[in-house]
Amino acid sequence: MTSHPLLIVILAAGKGTRMKSTLPKVLHRVAGRSLLGHAIAASRSAAADRIAVVVGPGMDEVADETRRFAPGAEIFVQHEQLGTAHAVLAARPALQAHKGDVIVLFADTPLLTPETVARLRGILDGGAALAVLGFEAADPTGYGRLVTDASGALLAIREDRDATETERRIRLCNSGVVAFRTPALVSILDRIGKANAKGEYYLTEAAEIARKDGLRLSVGTCPEEEVLGINSRDQLAGAEAIWQQRARQKVMQAGATLIAPETVWLSHDTVIGRDVVIEPNVFIGEGVVIEDNVVIKANCHLQGIDRRSAGGVRVRQGAEIGPFARLRPGTDIGPEAHIGNFVEIKNARLDEGAKANHLTYIGDAHVGANANIGAGTITCNYDGFDKGHTEIGAGAFIGTNSSLVAPITIGENAYVGAGSVISGQDVEPGSLAVVRGPRNDRPGWVASFRERIKSKSGKKT
Ligand code: UD1
Ligand code: MG
Repeated sequence: MTSHPLLIVILAAGKGTRMKSTLPKVLHRVAGRSLLGHAIAASRSAAADRIAVVVGPGMDEVADETRRFAPGAEIFVQHEQLGTAHAVLAARPALQAHKGDVIVLFADTPLLTPETVARLRGILDGGAALAVLGFEAADPTGYGRLVTDASGALLAIREDRDATETERRIRLCNSGVVAFRTPALVSILDRIGKANAKGEYYLTEAAEIARKDGLRLSVGTCPEEEVLGINSRDQLAGAEAIWQQRARQKVMQAGATLIAPETVWLSHDTVIGRDVVIEPNVFIGEGVVIEDNVVIKANCHLQGIDRRSAGGVRVRQGAEIGPFARLRPGTDIGPEAHIGNFVEIKNARLDEGAKANHLTYIGDAHVGANANIGAGTITCNYDGFDKGHTEIGAGAFIGTNSSLVAPITIGENAYVGAGSVISGQDVEPGSLAVVRGPRNDRPGWVASFRERIKSKSGKKT
């Protein structure tokens, strides 16, 4: 391990006009986390001591997102977009204050792994002053090419537009990730000119200048998919697909069974225990923890955090969810509890062995151990202004098609008769509450009704 402190500079100033969006490009999400969030997460996992993010003018949302993921990050504004070297120099105060390694990353590359960043640093440990991350491109068009000598040593990076015919044939391309271990970094960047086809300050020029200074340059490589840059919705979906594939592999390697892995959607922070079985067509949003031995049956939607709330979903040991269940933020399903088809749970805790097997909404509630919630039960938690809490005691039995108007408490081991609307007064432990119109049977009514209709209208019945 190296003892050189690491500064990672993340370039996030691009607007991403090809995304056709009001959101800045780097705030689009893969696996529920913004592209910038992925770059910051990779930087942290790569043990960055300092993170600097370069944003465009007026990109307050990007700055906010930076603070959310890395409260200690330094944020710099690149007022005009004059090229990648110019963008790095927007972070000049951070570069000048830092003694150690500097790695530059693009914020639109969400599949870069911390292992690759660590490998690049390993190359610096081997004596290089500058290490570029390269990849063999299936189609190199548009990328900078890594020009090497016969021994494979890096001579220069040539942008596509500035390359000669021979250089264009090179398939080893620049990913954009560059690592530096040289006190001359700022001096090198300051010497980069803009005599090129785009008239921009190219960071890639740093290679040739460093070589002329007599510094050692080197190349590390990674698979192309790791450095896939996002410029369009199409590429965003492509990155999502690759990310999901990786995440499913990890989950299965950790001991979960995914019957049809390609139909299970995970989030960047999903935690899944051992011997969990997930049936086909399950979506898992941010903030979900699934403990050991849980079964998630087909067609469930679990979303632990949404834009309005931070709650998380936890499904504890041995619980069964679905098919067709929806778990929303703030849901805590106890061990061995059962949540069945067409059941929605929000901001509610169900204790061990509780059951809500069919057609139910439980919101802003606590359900005690082994309570049984009958089909069609609704906690009426909202009066148009405020949310009210429903407390259901352990062992309680809520009959089918009951409405529990919050705030309300159903005592331990109490029964609620089917079809009841329970409001106002709490139900005492151990008692039965039934609220229904009286039953009114009229023997022979049907025949006399039909007779009346027939004689009035002459219709056959
Ligand atoms: C860049 C590299 C190219 C490499 C390719 C990999 C340069 C000159 N070229 O080209 O060698 O093969 O990436 O995808 O570095 N940015 C700013 N401010 C600017 C300009 C860019 O913040 O003034 C940011 C962008 O938001 C983006 C990144 O830097 O995240 C790269 O810029 P982009 O214009 O996409 O460079 P490429 O032409 O793709
Ligand atoms: Mg690009």
